[in-house]
Amino acid sequence: SAAKPLSTKKVVITAGGTLEPLDPVRYLGNRSSGKQGIALANSARDAGAEVVLIAAHLEVQLPEGVEIIRVETALELQAATEHAIESADVLIMAAAVADFRPDHTEQSKIKKRDDTADPVITLVRNPDILAGVVNHRNAVGGSQLIVGFAAETGDEHGDVLDYAKAKLERKGCDLLVVNQVGQGPQGGERTFGQDSNQVLILDRDGSEPLKAEGSKQAVADAVIERIVNKIAAR
Ligand code: C5P
Repeated sequence: SAAKPLSTKKVVITAGGTLEPLDPVRYLGNRSSGKQGIALANSARDAGAEVVLIAAHLEVQLPEGVEIIRVETALELQAATEHAIESADVLIMAAAVADFRPDHTEQSKIKKRDDTADPVITLVRNPDILAGVVNHRNAVGGSQLIVGFAAETGDEHGDVLDYAKAKLERKGCDLLVVNQVGQGPQGGERTFGQDSNQVLILDRDGSEPLKAEGSKQAVADAVIERIVNKIAAR
């Protein structure tokens, strides 16, 4: 129906920031509130979808009426995502995945001692989960619609749109939602944890980028609407 355009669809959404443990009490993390991902889950649910939310570290409450899978690390998020996408129609990768993790996790708390050298942390690269699921989908001829997120700034070598188009090509996803960092209503301030956003929705089919701005819920609604339209046009 018009009010529930996703009523027969399963939508998987990743949200929040991954935590990469150093020892039983410490981790490396990133600043991600998870607000945008939660807003997407609410919007997809309200559009009638069966929603699976793969939630890393969040600073906001979990939504009602969706299936929740808690994860902590990028590798856990990868395993959960690869499993969930098998039976899904749509995957939205809104999680802030740590690019690196400590090369190992100490089994006991790293001690502060005066008689030994200060510890050195060696980092290894985490897999690019989004690029991986796109490759797998393409290899097996899957039909899932895959949506990525990116935060971009322009610089002397190119504007936000140039960087965003290059990233869309690199990742191979169908839609890329580009957060224009520092260009929100709070102009110039960091956007982490804020309630509003300004985004461009880029489509790999080359159609004109769509602008959406306002609250994270308004942005989420615009993203879900674009997804609904794309599915309808298939
Ligand atoms: O490369 P960048 O981090 O800007 O790309 C952002 C997009 O890629 C987001 O959708 C994010 O969830 C996803 N990503 C990922 N695995 C990573 C890093 C980012 O899936 N290791």
